[in-house]
Amino acid sequence: MDDIEDRNGIIFIIFGVTGDLTRRKLIPALYELLLVDKLPQPFTIVGFARRDWTDAFMVDTLMEGLRTNLRRVPVQEANGRQLFEKAAYVQSSFDEDEGYKRLGEYLAQVQAKNVIFYLATPPDAYLDIIRNIDKYKLKQIPSGWVRIVIEKPYGNNLESADELEYEVHKAFRERQIYRIDHYLGKETVQNILVLRFANGIFEPLWDRRYVDHVQITVAETHGVGTRAGYYEGAGVIRDMFQNHLLQLLTLTAMEAPVSFNADSVRDEKVKILNSLRPLTGIDAIKDTYRAQYVSGMVDGSRIPGYKDIEGVAPDSTTETYLAARLFVDNWRWAGVPFYMRSGKSLPARLTQIAIHFRQAPLSLFDWKNMAGDAPNVLVLNIQPNEGITLTFGAKLPGPGNQIAPVKMDFSYLESFGDEPPEAYIRLLLDCLTGDATLFTRSDEVLAQWKFTNNILNAWASNPVKNLPVYEAGTWGPDGADVFIAQDGRKWRNEIG
Ligand code: BG6
Repeated sequence: MDDIEDRNGIIFIIFGVTGDLTRRKLIPALYELLLVDKLPQPFTIVGFARRDWTDAFMVDTLMEGLRTNLRRVPVQEANGRQLFEKAAYVQSSFDEDEGYKRLGEYLAQVQAKNVIFYLATPPDAYLDIIRNIDKYKLKQIPSGWVRIVIEKPYGNNLESADELEYEVHKAFRERQIYRIDHYLGKETVQNILVLRFANGIFEPLWDRRYVDHVQITVAETHGVGTRAGYYEGAGVIRDMFQNHLLQLLTLTAMEAPVSFNADSVRDEKVKILNSLRPLTGIDAIKDTYRAQYVSGMVDGSRIPGYKDIEGVAPDSTTETYLAARLFVDNWRWAGVPFYMRSGKSLPARLTQIAIHFRQAPLSLFDWKNMAGDAPNVLVLNIQPNEGITLTFGAKLPGPGNQIAPVKMDFSYLESFGDEPPEAYIRLLLDCLTGDATLFTRSDEVLAQWKFTNNILNAWASNPVKNLPVYEAGTWGPDGADVFIAQDGRKWRNEIG
């Protein structure tokens, strides 16, 4: 790991600096790191993009972006000036030699030592950028280190991910490559491992003997908005399932790593991905459920249906809702279903992992059970209301004989007095210090694609004319409830 106080400073090159991600996430995160003295100095931002911007225009635009997007702290002009000191802009398309030549000259002229290449462009530019970094030897820095950060989507299927892997490995060593899944930067996602492995009480219960099933939900209220161009070719499966949902599953299911370092943690995660029962052919059809939203009310406003969005084909079968039944075929989890679901335009923003424990072995209380059939649920609230709750049955006070569900509640905000920081702050800091634990490793991303590809292939071989639809602002079509009810279970739609 490199020292954060690295005297040689860092040149942080953002490909796609004019885009939304840079303005909304990267620059605010760098600014917050600067405020807490975590940005090695000198720190120089170099933007690279197609638009006809100048150095000064880039700085003004990014400053403006900071003012709109910084959530937790006010923007001070002086700090802004420090962040953008010596900032430079290279105007070029991503497949044009000239831009890379100029970037090379710049790096030589400033005698760059430590360099981070950050790919924040649309994914179709990745190959060009990586090939040109290699061709123009931009990573051949005489001393110091070089890293590359690659945003998701990392490929569009197994084949394209493989091709990307091939190219990136021609130019970089694995330890220089930081593949981002921003869910791993979320504080409460990291807390899954702390809950499991820093406490003695949960782990003994964490297996097929005590767990009935697990539900992993990533629900969003917003629709596809202006992203139809990307989303039509992605759907929930590529946008959320292949990455964020599978990551949540691996952290929930993995064995304790031999130590908390990047490779040990990722070794265990990969084992889980390799233990997933493949969903191929008819199994993939049976164990997944897709749907698409039509116009409806979300947060008090009517939103257009998916097919009403410009850029969406009238006969589109891209799913905006996906539920899946997965099994981790290993000793710990044999026979325990993991129900996964994610959707756009649902009634609540909610990311949670709910561990539903088995019922008591014998029903001693012949009482009215308001707690439901399986009252013991441990819920990890990733967002919002970050925290953890454990539900169990207690006797309702009074002369009657009734069992009611009650909760033990840990709230991140109440306990620590603040909301968890933005994921990008943690991820960028880790990249600056050379810690890849929260980034996806090569074999991991390929294992995620391998699993997902089977489903994609099965869907492609069994094409449907239309998907079931749900009104925006609802928890999906009735079919989604039937999907889980077939196993005698029910979706947990509760926040907290
Ligand atoms: C992104 C997806 O990776 O994650 C988006 O492309 C999605 O479609 C977003 O909205 C969700 O992230 P978060 O942090 O808001 O839960």
